[in-house]
Amino acid sequence: MVDVEIRELMQPFVLSDYQVQEVYSRFCLEIEKGLRRNTHEQASTKCFPTYVQDLPTGDEMGKYLALDLGGTNFRVLLVTLKGHHEATVESQIYAVPKDLMVGPGVELFDHIAECLAKFVAKHDMHNAFLPLGFTFSFPCIQLGLREAKLTRWTKGFKCPGVEGEDVGLMLHDAIQRRGDAEIAVVALLNDTTGTLMSCAHRNPDCRVGVIVGTGCNACYVEHVDNVDLLDTDFKRAQKQVIVNVEWGAFGDHGQLEFVRTDYDREVDRKSINRSEQLFEKMTSGMYLGELVRLVLLRALERNKIFKLNTKRAAFVAVLQKNVDIFETKYISEVEADSFPEFPNTRRIVRQLFGVEKATVEDCQKLKYICECVTRRAATFVAIGISGLINKIIDRRVVVGIDGSVYRYHPKFDGYIREMMQKLVKPGKEFDIMLSEDGSGRGAALVAAVASKTK
Ligand code: GLC
Repeated sequence: MVDVEIRELMQPFVLSDYQVQEVYSRFCLEIEKGLRRNTHEQASTKCFPTYVQDLPTGDEMGKYLALDLGGTNFRVLLVTLKGHHEATVESQIYAVPKDLMVGPGVELFDHIAECLAKFVAKHDMHNAFLPLGFTFSFPCIQLGLREAKLTRWTKGFKCPGVEGEDVGLMLHDAIQRRGDAEIAVVALLNDTTGTLMSCAHRNPDCRVGVIVGTGCNACYVEHVDNVDLLDTDFKRAQKQVIVNVEWGAFGDHGQLEFVRTDYDREVDRKSINRSEQLFEKMTSGMYLGELVRLVLLRALERNKIFKLNTKRAAFVAVLQKNVDIFETKYISEVEADSFPEFPNTRRIVRQLFGVEKATVEDCQKLKYICECVTRRAATFVAIGISGLINKIIDRRVVVGIDGSVYRYHPKFDGYIREMMQKLVKPGKEFDIMLSEDGSGRGAALVAAVASKTK
């Protein structure tokens, strides 16, 4: 049992049933606003139509390139679709240097094109004609399958000269400037779309794609009649379309003020996209660790944790000086620990803060802090997923999920399911499946399905 002082400190992170219901109702309302033409402007969740309408059948064949930009790494992939729901993937990870994340956009795209050219050369494919699916995981207004205008950078990127531009064209131009590979950008997609596609490739009931990684977002399959922003020709030809909710921006118009804490406000104040992506800042890997750092600092300053530790002063100094020192991966490690040994927790506080003798009580308290921050994140994600499932007409809905937080946290899946049991309407059936490389395989599938449609 964790002591009452820490419970009190964490109270703002523990959502009441009323708060959960209220966030749920506000979220559903916001989705409707995003879909309707006359309210779209005011909506924080933009619900962008993706122009991806056909889900894969599993019989897609051929070689496709895929690019994946939007998390901590940038990847280039060669995906071979083999029919019979099978695919093989060869890939290479490249770093995106910090200065490129905030430097001129053209330089970012030149870097991408350079990595692409090296990859093609390494796989001896300079002479092949290769269709490419580009997973660009930022909010975009999709103008067609291969044209998408970036509306705003998120997740620590801020390259001037890209917002408002067609990123498909920027990539195309960068490839042309080099002129050393025959690559056609045939599709642009969000990572949530890739996740949905790659899960639908294996399970035809998949209707929702979710990412809980560096960022947090979802997409789902919607009937075209409910999507005002789609052009009429498309609506005439298709019944359904994937909608990219961009739920990371939920709360940007004040809807979450009644549940945000001082810590959330502090995280936002220090970010490079202030007052934006407020839901994302409470749910995703880029911010969860930082929330824990701020809470831990407050707990230490108020003498509620590591009370008698001889290294206290040094501990506080390290925490104060080093923003982001408590990475989100440590939350997963702490929450995986067992009583009374707490091997991960003890190692982490030793390595990061030089604390040698953490007591069992201190470890329990730190674990509780991590648990409250994660549980709240999972609750928000569950609210979003349940809102989408309840909106979809199918009785049975499978949700494809990916992202480092979901994948590596030992209890995130359990926390989500627990809350979804309460929120998904009676009579509906749901399941959650882990996506297999949506950003890579999913991108190739979108490219393949697009070629098939043509
Ligand atoms: C951010 C992006 C969104 C993406 C998500 C997960 O929220 O705006 O497009 O899907 O991160 O990577």
